[in-house]
Amino acid sequence: MREVLAFATADDVADAAAFLFVNLAAQAVRDRGAFYVALAGGATHLSCYRLLSAPLISSRVDWEKTQVFFGDERCVPEGHPDRNDDAAAAALLNHVSLPGKNIHRIPATERDGAERYESEIRGAFSIFSPSSDKGIPRFDLVFLGMGPDGHTASLFPGRASLDEAQRLVLRVDDSPKPPVSRVTFTLPLVNAARHVSLLVTGKEKAAALARVLLEDAALPAARVRPTAGTLTILADAAAVSDSKNPPAAGTSR
Ligand code: 6PG
Repeated sequence: MREVLAFATADDVADAAAFLFVNLAAQAVRDRGAFYVALAGGATHLSCYRLLSAPLISSRVDWEKTQVFFGDERCVPEGHPDRNDDAAAAALLNHVSLPGKNIHRIPATERDGAERYESEIRGAFSIFSPSSDKGIPRFDLVFLGMGPDGHTASLFPGRASLDEAQRLVLRVDDSPKPPVSRVTFTLPLVNAARHVSLLVTGKEKAAALARVLLEDAALPAARVRPTAGTLTILADAAAVSDSKNPPAAGTSR
């Protein structure tokens, strides 16, 4: 299922994303005893992460039962300004009572970092083999951003990684958005999620979002279609401005 929620401003999008996180976390802990979430990189999500770090909101999340992963990471050392995990830590993870063992950073500077991270994900879900009858690990929430070219995570238009059908995590060395090397979730892992939330704000992304809403499969973000889950696109008015019959701000379609 796909829903598109349009909001007047980027701050409203961040609000909606934060409450989606809180609600899905409560539901996952109630239903399955744990909440598995993959955070997005880039700047759009940082406002949402900062909101989640506010005690009034963070106190509603059972962080002891929350397992935090990352949908992609740049192949630069920890502490480098380009690291997605460090940005999420500064905005959120360092400010909540999340045990260190619950934070699963990608070993992105290791040559076999993708293989190791895939093993770590499989271990966390006790689904150790691709042939397991348990299928693919199902995150409760995968946060994604989108670039002006329609990329998401570190899956870029026209790249072979977009067509990966087996592996759950890949290293790519052909990113047009620097840095060139990254480790990323693949579409099979993203689309196995119970809920994917794609955050898109800003006029510079309006053309790509219009194509995504028309399901233009040339764009990686248009290929995010959870097999048995929900995709929620949270966008501001600037980002939906090129879309035909866009949902009015504050509504869904
Ligand atoms: C990355 C991100 C990437 C990001 C989009 C949007 O590591 O670069 O995972 O997919 O989410 O490029 O970035 P902004 O939110 O900064 O526009």
